[in-house]
Amino acid sequence: MSITPSPIPSNQPLQSLDEWEDFMKERYPAPMGAGPKPTVGYDPDKKESQFRNYEADARPTVREFYRLNHTFQTHEFGQAKRRQYLGLDRMKMGIWEAAEYLNKLVDDSDPDTDMTQLEHLLQTAEQLRRDGRPRWMILTGFVHDLGKILCLWDEPQWAVVGDTFPTGCAYSDKIVFHRFFEANPDHADARYQTRCGVYEEGCGLDAVALSWGHDEYIYQVCKDHLPMEGLYMLRYHSFYPWHREEQYGHLCNDQDRAMLKWVREFNPYDLYTKSHGKPDVKALRPFYDELIREYFPAQIRW
Ligand SMILES: [Fe+2]
Ligand SMILES: [Fe+2]
Repeated sequence: MSITPSPIPSNQPLQSLDEWEDFMKERYPAPMGAGPKPTVGYDPDKKESQFRNYEADARPTVREFYRLNHTFQTHEFGQAKRRQYLGLDRMKMGIWEAAEYLNKLVDDSDPDTDMTQLEHLLQTAEQLRRDGRPRWMILTGFVHDLGKILCLWDEPQWAVVGDTFPTGCAYSDKIVFHRFFEANPDHADARYQTRCGVYEEGCGLDAVALSWGHDEYIYQVCKDHLPMEGLYMLRYHSFYPWHREEQYGHLCNDQDRAMLKWVREFNPYDLYTKSHGKPDVKALRPFYDELIREYFPAQIRW
């Protein structure tokens, strides 16, 4: 008797969130040599045709993920999600507790080869620690993906992960699968299709609504507890059109320009630490308990 695989719900095309991250790694390969580098492997001479190849070579699941993301992430959708979540009145829990809660997120990935969410957080943080980075930055590495708990509250993948982009103004053509924006209702709204759209030149990214996802959520949860450099890493780690493609400079202010270097320093730790062996969660726990206590109260609002 053959077993028919259960159909993938149309809103959840990725087998695991890692599929999106694997695609990012293909688009932005690690710089030469093992381990994260403080410098970013961005190649400004990358040809447009290479960019198109990433699209052509993407798995159908990844393509469908981007189609949904670019179609449904409207300016109004992001505002509605901000209203829904940013009151932070759903739960109270500590940082480690949230990491364990996130670990309930099991998708169809192979448990023998793929990292759990907690392991990815520890790997990112441990590489920062090995490189002698400051304690706040190690902690930022540990919390950076906790916003993915949105998936546990039934948010579709396209509203949790994916490279983020400003809504309410023209889409940069450096955004991958750019043509899928043609199906976005904002594409037909003239107010949203000028260079600055609803924003003012140089207004600063804080005033700019990015497509909704795990970055903005974890930034809001942590914003009273970490230094500004760490908060930029949280809020913009998926904003590849800015930190890798050098787009949207016209919306940035001096503070954004000063902080960009920290967002870039963080990115290799997020992208390139996944294959560095499974961390020993039990052995590492005391170090992280102490680190968390240094910056966060026992419970925070989610
Ligand atoms: Fe992330
Ligand atoms: Fe991550």
